[in-house]
Amino acid sequence: MTEMAKLSLPDGKSMELPVLTGSENEKAIDISDLRKKTGYITLDPGFANTGVCESKISYIDGEHGILRYRGFPIEELAENPSFVEVAYLLINGELPNKMQLENFADRISLHSMIHEDMRHFFEGFSQNSHPMVILSAMISSLSAYYSEASGKASMEDLEINSARLIAKISTIAAFSYKKSVGQPFVYPRDELSYSANFLNMMFSVPAEPFELDPEIERSLELLLVLHADHEQNCSASTVRVVGSSEANVYASVASGILALWGPLHGGANQQVVQMLQKIHMDGTGISKYIEKAKNQYSNFRLMGFGHRVYKNFDPRAKILKNECDRILSKLGINDPLLDIALELEEIALSDDYFIERKLYPTLDFYTGIIYRALGIPLNMFTVMFVLGRVPGWIAQWKEMHEDAKQKIARPRQLYTGQTKRKYVPIAERV
Ligand code: ACO
Repeated sequence: MTEMAKLSLPDGKSMELPVLTGSENEKAIDISDLRKKTGYITLDPGFANTGVCESKISYIDGEHGILRYRGFPIEELAENPSFVEVAYLLINGELPNKMQLENFADRISLHSMIHEDMRHFFEGFSQNSHPMVILSAMISSLSAYYSEASGKASMEDLEINSARLIAKISTIAAFSYKKSVGQPFVYPRDELSYSANFLNMMFSVPAEPFELDPEIERSLELLLVLHADHEQNCSASTVRVVGSSEANVYASVASGILALWGPLHGGANQQVVQMLQKIHMDGTGISKYIEKAKNQYSNFRLMGFGHRVYKNFDPRAKILKNECDRILSKLGINDPLLDIALELEEIALSDDYFIERKLYPTLDFYTGIIYRALGIPLNMFTVMFVLGRVPGWIAQWKEMHEDAKQKIARPRQLYTGQTKRKYVPIAERV
């Protein structure tokens, strides 16, 4: 029998609300009939207490630092990271067998080229355009080439559209980098793995041979796997909200890219390294920055610290901290920014301000140091996040369309503006 919660309202009305239980025993009060039955709405800025859907894709226990994709612990998926396998898992719900994986990987490779006309789009952007802008514009432009993808009908073609998105986004990302450095575009090579193909498009030039370092390829696979989904965060919610109007999957993902760009979300990975660089150049020590972050009158925040859901270590940050050590020592790099990051983390984790607010390092705190080691430039960091997150966005978009209970996203508001008043013609205004 469904458990019920009782809500008593100030006007004497009351209502019984069903209590739902998730598979990990999380509880939710179903308020979907609240306004219809009582006239009241709920108010929850930033949706901090609001569940917008039931989902089977990823599970986070922020209190205990747990993240699972489709039930599999992130630590296990990170052991021998395969981004294409994880993409299949997120979108289809189960791990692929050997043949399913090969077919999925082949389908992605098959769609890696973009329409030749799209090359000209890059000419319209100035050389110093941020690659995130280019990426979002180009992904939404894909709708112009794949018209069968329009609206909810694209669910029928989702298999091919997923492959197109996962494949083409890496080509577009690499082209936008090439544009920014004034080098010729390097076309995709289908015989390479997803990460190897991306690295080849980014770093090879026609003038000389390019040797791919398998250590770098492995590190990139790991980063992509760790970014692949994170339940109802700002960008995933954006993809769902846009998709709920039956906008196509390309338009929905393009909107997700822009939501991810903000410094409080995916843009934090660029901000972390900029912050570490500033501390390094300043040379006067870390405590000044810790004090600034704690000062309520300063708008400075310790970037890469704090998360809406994690009130404990982000499990991805733990994995990446080890990966920083591994890849930097394999590549023989001694990055002073890593030393600053470690010191900053140690000081913050023993400071009452951060302890009381449960502010821990998130994955963004470490990704930038690894991207630097891999040779990825600063303005491409958030683009790398996008490459990893695309399968998660597709899975979220798909799940929303398969859920019979989902409707167009249309929140309510509590109006606090002027009550009715009379229009004053301009000649009579003071
Ligand atoms: N540095 C200093 N103080 C912080 C930080 C930080 N990084 N993060 C939160 N706080 C403080 C706030 O000032 C607030 O203090 P108060 O209670 O005295 O007012 C308290 O901790 C709670 O913070 P909120 O902003 O209310 O928490 P919220 O859940 O809304 O925000 C967020 C989470 C946006 C991630 C925040 O922690 C932040 O701005 N972090 C820095 C940016 C960042 O790294 N973003 C990446 C997040 S991960 C991702 O999206 C991929």
